[in-house]
Amino acid sequence: MNIKERIYQLTEILNRYRYEYYVLDNPSISDSEYDALLRELEKLEAAYPQYVLPNSPTKEVGYYQENAFEKVVHQNSMLSLANAFNHQEILEFYERIAKLGLKPSFVCELKIDGIASTARYRNGIFILGATRGNGQVGENITPNMKTIKSLPKTLEEDYDLEVRGEVYMKKSVLERINDERIMQNLEPFRNPRNAAGGSLRQLDPSITASRELDIFNYTLVDPEKYQIKTQIDALHFLEKLGFATNPYYRYCPTINDVLDYLEEWKDKRHELDYETDGVVIKVNEFELYDKIGYTVKNPKWAIAYKFPALEVATKLLDITFTVGRTGNITPNAILEPVMIAGTMVSKATLNNEDFIKERDIRIGDVVTVRKAGEIIPEVVGVNFDFRDPNSLPFQMIENCPACGEKLVRRENESLHYCVNENCEGRILASLIYFCSRAGMDIEGLGENLVTYLYENNYVKEVTDFYHLYKYKDELIATPGLG
Ligand code: IVH
Repeated sequence: MNIKERIYQLTEILNRYRYEYYVLDNPSISDSEYDALLRELEKLEAAYPQYVLPNSPTKEVGYYQENAFEKVVHQNSMLSLANAFNHQEILEFYERIAKLGLKPSFVCELKIDGIASTARYRNGIFILGATRGNGQVGENITPNMKTIKSLPKTLEEDYDLEVRGEVYMKKSVLERINDERIMQNLEPFRNPRNAAGGSLRQLDPSITASRELDIFNYTLVDPEKYQIKTQIDALHFLEKLGFATNPYYRYCPTINDVLDYLEEWKDKRHELDYETDGVVIKVNEFELYDKIGYTVKNPKWAIAYKFPALEVATKLLDITFTVGRTGNITPNAILEPVMIAGTMVSKATLNNEDFIKERDIRIGDVVTVRKAGEIIPEVVGVNFDFRDPNSLPFQMIENCPACGEKLVRRENESLHYCVNENCEGRILASLIYFCSRAGMDIEGLGENLVTYLYENNYVKEVTDFYHLYKYKDELIATPGLG
């Protein structure tokens, strides 16, 4: 496939995902997979602008589809945010502002994983609720928003104002609703975000009411009408008027305070009863907004930091096999390197033949890889949209990759074994195991070094480790050993 075809393919695929996400509230891929594809398209488009399509998803803020709900034109467009995936990108966001000679302070807010909405009040009375839609035109969901208990329907002051926020479903509520749905033979919601979206877009508000949605508000439209000059004051103003704000926002005088906030919430967020997928970092001083400016899609005075994903999409380059110390054969995925939860991953386990066949994993596929905590990265599934029509189904090897012995798969077992006691692969694996944390825990003697010692005949059996002093000078002189 050439560059042009890839750009066309990405445009088509991403637009379909956007339809699933914005219209159906039922995306078939994770946000991180979507982000990775979008980034690929952005890069290609930047390098080959002649191939950019008019319906490119890099140009549109959202997705708008004709449907049952009345349209609402947003008086101030509802923008989305650019993403940052690491501290470096946060510092670059800061540098772009600092270069203009500005010295802002910041407000950090948890990024709630729900549905953006806007609420208009006239004379202190809630008169209109709408979704974001494509950012310019949304859907009128007033009756449904009225069912959200945490959204005030009347204000103590008779203000005309517009407030924006995130409608979300608590995790505990989702659990209860999914239990009920399973009992009724309905498909459970995949996550709180889909559940919130699906519930907000019900034609019958009594269904929405039964879903017990909540809201956190974060934007006061036209703050200058109330002489509000900063985001932190806007949040306080909203609270005084009875709006629910997320309690964990923080005023951050410097960008280092911002980075501290990100670190602090990286793990703590899991303790909350609602899902957060990042932190929104906003310049605090409204007077700087126009000076800092906007891109077509996003303000440059705010950015969404996305917490490291535990699941990432990448390409499966090859499947190799290793022999364990008991002769067990493990298929390994050789991957196009990707960052997962802060570490570079280029290899993952495929467990065994059945695991691969059940998922129909093939070389050349785009696969989802998961790395959680200390666990070895694992390929969890295939994205069939990227399947090369010429790819071939996986074939398990028949002979040991180390010694060539015919492999054995015993009845009722999922693993293949090399039964050759003298198999070099097995011996090496047992030497590696001997030095590992599970064995003698010999510091510095990891897989690579043991393999080197084995292949260069310094160590052929366990006792040889205790005679390595004989080669002291030779080993010290070896580049990389020191
Ligand atoms: S500010 C221009 N603040 O994240 C300002 N958004 O990618 C845009 N979100 O569309 C919104 N929590 O749906 C903002 N504290 C927060 C947020 C938040 C969640 C969502 C919102 C927005 C998207 C931006």
